Amino acid sequence: MTTFSYSDASPAEVRAGLLVVPVYKGPAVGSDVRSLGLAQAVNDAKLSGRKGEQLLVTRRSGDRFQAAAVLLAGVGSKDAFTVDVARRVLGKAAPVARRFGAVATTFPSVFGTRQAADAVTAAVEGLALGSYRFDAYRSKGTKPEDGADLTRVVAVGNPRWNTSGLTAAARRAGIVAGAVAWARDLVNTPAGDMPPAEIARRARAMARSTGLTCKIWNERQLAEGGFNGILGVGRGSVNPPRMIELSYTGAGTATPIALSGKGISFDSGGLSLKDAKGMESMKYDMGGAASILGAMRAIAQLKPKINVIAAIPCSENMPSGSAQKPGDVITHRGGTTSEVLNTDAEGRLVLADALAFLAERSPELIVDTATLTGACMIALGDRISGAMGNDDALARELIAAGEVTGEPIWQLPLFRDYRPLIDSSVADIKNVGERYGGAITAAWFLAEFVGDIPWVHLDIAGPAFSERGNDLGPRGGTGVPVRTLVRFVMDRAGA
Ligand code: BES
Ligand code: MN
Ligand code: ZN
Repeated sequence: MTTFSYSDASPAEVRAGLLVVPVYKGPAVGSDVRSLGLAQAVNDAKLSGRKGEQLLVTRRSGDRFQAAAVLLAGVGSKDAFTVDVARRVLGKAAPVARRFGAVATTFPSVFGTRQAADAVTAAVEGLALGSYRFDAYRSKGTKPEDGADLTRVVAVGNPRWNTSGLTAAARRAGIVAGAVAWARDLVNTPAGDMPPAEIARRARAMARSTGLTCKIWNERQLAEGGFNGILGVGRGSVNPPRMIELSYTGAGTATPIALSGKGISFDSGGLSLKDAKGMESMKYDMGGAASILGAMRAIAQLKPKINVIAAIPCSENMPSGSAQKPGDVITHRGGTTSEVLNTDAEGRLVLADALAFLAERSPELIVDTATLTGACMIALGDRISGAMGNDDALARELIAAGEVTGEPIWQLPLFRDYRPLIDSSVADIKNVGERYGGAITAAWFLAEFVGDIPWVHLDIAGPAFSERGNDLGPRGGTGVPVRTLVRFVMDRAGA
């Protein structure tokens, strides 16, 4: 358990295992470093203040500060020191902070009053996310940093600021970071231990403990409900599909917003089998589902005045004698038919049913997240999510939320002339287009199932998983875009 708080104590008074303070390029230091009596140390150590530079100073008798140690962290030039830089530099400092248990940072205090809440949020997120580890599968005594963990995170601000508002901001950021870590655990757990039924069990346990309403649809119920996309994709696996339905009520009888996320517990490609390299990391093909579950967890704890419903389709895509075959035709929930020409384009098949199901409830809007196409990674790389949909204003809202949270999103056009690429000669539509424009034809497939409800699809094939690790976490599931979704919902609720 980590606690998250805000303080406006002077840097020298802050009691913590570690206090992280900024050093700007030059090098130049602020009043925080000077009041700690460490300006000389910056010079003696020949720090430059470049981003990523770190110097750890432990307290000696005679030192003017209370923290057991101070980390002088380079942040680059002072003019370019944004909330996003603060989040990332603290993310990189977090592994050091873990060794000290309780960590505080003066990073928020250098921002203006208008940015105070965002800076406190970013500081907490950076330290909490950067210290995330997934050690569940290491045997005892082999964990890289056995025993080390963050116990307390303190964002240090400015005595002129509103303490209660910023204490709440720190607490909220702690909740969101907790939800991101929870979603990362879902993604990082090997597919062998995370079949659809296990995703559903974890969702139900989460719903119970946070007060969400939860219904798990089993195969029989899915068959009765006409969810033949979810069932078709799952037919080749011994692990049966599920659909997770969640609802959060924070605004009485108001029209809800709706969320969905692709939950392929493992994507082998099915009979259109991937090669060995292509399926190495396909346990993360439920990253969309994990992001929606994580967002719902945070929403349940933050209690905004809004209603949210979610339908999360979970299947395992495997080849076998019972698997669906190229050329098969599926009748989706609601009656639309699709020709399955490539069983590896399975995400759109399961999402189709869930989107149709959500659209029946006439929500205010629909957002879905999915590790849907390699094409989107070719277009945008592995750090940027693609946004496509039928409502540009809604896309802009999500892009804006992504900017605040440091989870970049770029819109791709749902270009009309590409719609005929998924016309089928035997069914209403087919599940693959041509080689080029694959992210957009995939979105066109989904568009068939949302009717005229404002809808945006986020293709997170790149950012959902980090091959090399980044400032905010180690190699593995990133939890993207949990923070963006939560921010989007909170903004919508006017919170
Ligand atoms: N899950 C994959 C997309 C993916 C690929 C995510 C690599 C993350 C990394 C998806 O189900 C898939 O296989 N898509 C195919 C679609 C194609 C067959 C039309 C793809 O992108 O190649
Ligand atoms: Mn696939
Ligand atoms: Zn997939």
